Amino acid sequence: MQQVKPSASVVVSQAARKLKAEGKDIIDLGIGEPDFNTPENIIEAAHRAALAGQTRYTAMAGTAELKQAISDKFHRDNNLTYSPDQVFVSNGAKQVIFSAMLATLNPGDEVLLCAPYFGCYRDTVLAVGGIPITLPCHEQDGFRLTPETLRAAITDSTRWVLLNLPSNPAGAVYNKAQLQDLGQVLLEHPNVLLLSDEIYEHIIFDNQQFISTARALPHLADRILTVNGVSKAYAMTGWRIGYCGGPQELIDVMIKVQAQVSSAPCSIAQAAATEALTGSQKTVTQFREAFERRRDLVVAEIKKIEGLNLRKPGGAFYAYIDCGDLIGSKTEAGKVIETDTDLAAYLLNDAGVASVPGSAYDMSPYIRLSTANSDENLKLGLAKIATAVARLQS
Ligand SMILES: Cc1ncc(COP(=O)(O)O)c(C=O)c1O
Repeated sequence: MQQVKPSASVVVSQAARKLKAEGKDIIDLGIGEPDFNTPENIIEAAHRAALAGQTRYTAMAGTAELKQAISDKFHRDNNLTYSPDQVFVSNGAKQVIFSAMLATLNPGDEVLLCAPYFGCYRDTVLAVGGIPITLPCHEQDGFRLTPETLRAAITDSTRWVLLNLPSNPAGAVYNKAQLQDLGQVLLEHPNVLLLSDEIYEHIIFDNQQFISTARALPHLADRILTVNGVSKAYAMTGWRIGYCGGPQELIDVMIKVQAQVSSAPCSIAQAAATEALTGSQKTVTQFREAFERRRDLVVAEIKKIEGLNLRKPGGAFYAYIDCGDLIGSKTEAGKVIETDTDLAAYLLNDAGVASVPGSAYDMSPYIRLSTANSDENLKLGLAKIATAVARLQS
C-alpha cells in the first residue's frame, strides 16, 4: 500500500478548496464530475423507493430490477447480450474495477495500462499486488493503443489489458477497425483478459458512433469485462453506482469479493440507477451537447495561448493540454517551471485555476483541465491561464 498514491485530482481539489477557504478566488478545473444536478425523475424514484421500504440489504450483485435494467441497457445501447446473471453492480465503476482485479490477480501478474490513463487503475493494481505496466499511447496516434505497442508489451505474466473509451484524460476514441486490430493481437494470447471501461460512452463528439469493445470483438466475449456506471452520463457521481457485464465465472468471483467488502450498494441508489437507465434519456443528450459546446470553447481558447497545444478530444469532458513548450520557462518570481507539476502549481497559486498535472496520468508534460464546469467559469479560467502563461519568461 506504500506504493499507492492519493488521487491527484482529489489532492488538487483539496488544495483549491483550502485556497478558497483562505478567501482566494479559485476556479476549479481539476475535478472530473458533471456540474449538473441529477435529473429530477431519478431523485423522485429514489424518494419513492425509500418511502416504499426499499431500505434493506439487497441481493449481493444488485437488485433484480437494476440488473434487468442494465442487461436491457447493454442490449439497447451497445447491442451486447449479458443476461442479468452476468451483470454485477457495485459502489461505482471504481469498485467494479477493484473487485475484478482482486478477484483475478496473483502477486506479480501484470496489467497493461494505456498512458495517459485514469490514475486509479495503477493504484488499484498495486493495491492488490499486481504490477502496472505503462504502455505509452502517443498524441500522434490519437492517444490510442496501437497493436504494435500491445504486442510488444505482452509477456507470460500479462493478465489484463485495460482500455478506456472515450478516455480520461485524453478523450481518445476507438472505431471498430482499431478495436479489431487490438483483438487480433489478443487472439495470439488466450490467457489475457480485457477490461473495457466505457463510463464516458455517451460523452462522444462530432457525430462519432460509440462502439463497445465487446461488440467489436464478439469472439473474445468470454474474456472481456465491460465496465460502465451512472456517474458521468446521469450526473450521479455521489450516488455511487457502477456496473459491469462479463463472463459468468468472473462475475461469480467478483460477487464473492463484494460479499466480504461492502455487500451490495445502497438500495435507494440502486432504485435511482434503475430509473436513470429505464426512464427518459433526454438529459443524456442535453449533457452531451453541453460538453461538446464546452469542448469547442476550450479548444478555441487554448489555440490562442502561445505555449499550450491541445489535440481536439473526441469524447469525455477533459482537455489534455501539451505544455512542453513552457518547460524551462521562468515565473516572475524567478522559479523555473521544470515539470507539469510545477506548471499546475503556478497556475493554481498565480492564476487561481486548479488543473491536474499530466504526471498523474503517467504522461508528461501535460496538464488536464476538466470541461465539466459552467461556460462562464471555463471562459474566466482560460483567460486567467492565458494571462499567467503570457507572464512566463522563456
Ligand atoms: C475512466 C474512469 N473510470 C471510472 C471512474 C470512476 O467512476 P465511478 O464514479 O463510477 O466510480 C472515473 C471517474 O473519474 C473515470 O474517469
